[in-house]
Amino acid sequence: MSKNKTTRRDLLKTITALTGGAMIPFGGQSQIVGQNKLPIINGDPVDLSDIINLFDFEKMAEGKMTKMVYEYVASGAADEFTVRWNRQAFDALKINPSVLNDVSKLDTAVTLFGHKLAYPILIAPTAFHKIMHPEGELATAKGAGKAKAIYVVSSFTTTALEEIKKVATEPLWFQLYARDDKEFTKNLVQKAETLGCRALCITVDTPVAGARDRQARVKFKLPEGINAPYRVGESLSITWKEMEWLISFAKIPVLLKGILNPDDAEKAIKIGASGIIVSNHSGRNLDTVPATIEVLPRIVERVNKRIPILMDGGIRRGTDVLKAIAFGANAVLVGKPICFGLASGGAEGVTKTLEILRAEFEMAMALTGRANIASIDQSLIWK
Ligand code: LAC
Repeated sequence: MSKNKTTRRDLLKTITALTGGAMIPFGGQSQIVGQNKLPIINGDPVDLSDIINLFDFEKMAEGKMTKMVYEYVASGAADEFTVRWNRQAFDALKINPSVLNDVSKLDTAVTLFGHKLAYPILIAPTAFHKIMHPEGELATAKGAGKAKAIYVVSSFTTTALEEIKKVATEPLWFQLYARDDKEFTKNLVQKAETLGCRALCITVDTPVAGARDRQARVKFKLPEGINAPYRVGESLSITWKEMEWLISFAKIPVLLKGILNPDDAEKAIKIGASGIIVSNHSGRNLDTVPATIEVLPRIVERVNKRIPILMDGGIRRGTDVLKAIAFGANAVLVGKPICFGLASGGAEGVTKTLEILRAEFEMAMALTGRANIASIDQSLIWK
């Protein structure tokens, strides 16, 4: 059996392990497995055994973060309509299952830019991990490695890329905020390439910051002693011209992150982008833009399989991943849930966040009668 094939027994093992020793009846059987080893946060062991889903992680993380950090991670822009819509749009989509298909072996593997992923969920770039957990981005990379997921490191990492690279056991991608110093920006791209990052995600939805009301109220700033080594100078308000310049020297695939308009998707393809990420920056920049799952079908239609399409925004359940794939996404990214997992339990929290989402996704595949990714299509959405 190939590594990426998951049997029902494997699924049972994952789910049982995730519950940290509870008895789970499944198919008429019960199993008892040992307790999870407890991660240590700030010197105290943390018990993640009561964490059943990603919302539990958010609650736990809120209790562990300072108010300033929680507000930074959890908030969106202005009145947070888009933040809510990202979730509501997923919830409003109903699933049209089909029964009596052979789902005894699930294959969740997808290939992106020549690299095979065990399952179509990546860690979205999010900034400043050391404010969430003392081990910061190193914990994220270790957690990603254990869960066999790609970690897209943010330009606003609080740990040098070289250090992250040392602990990473799965491929890294790098997210870029172009800085006004073009030489610095070019060097940063080349550093990411030299260190083996497999793709570059250039954020295109942030020519200026959004109305971050909740961050302003808590006077968000990086605590003393924590800095972001690649956030130097000012951010470069890039246009299509600078994007062409970046693509001209990048040796790895370039994805444009933050595309919502099909015309922009078209332009991205014209200038040689290798992929796009449908993203509204988790509702953190321009409030009242639509939910990404609502935008996705239009982009998919326009792109028409010419380049891969990834999406993020509001994904908290395996059924959300299933719906995004059904609408034509090649893979999804999760940001805030990873921050909450990281704050709750360091590397173990990150791993468990991904494992829960993966296990739920596999359940959703099996329960809708889809044994592999290619068979997940729009007919799965209730019309
Ligand atoms: C944010 C920036 C850093 O969303 O991407 O906070």
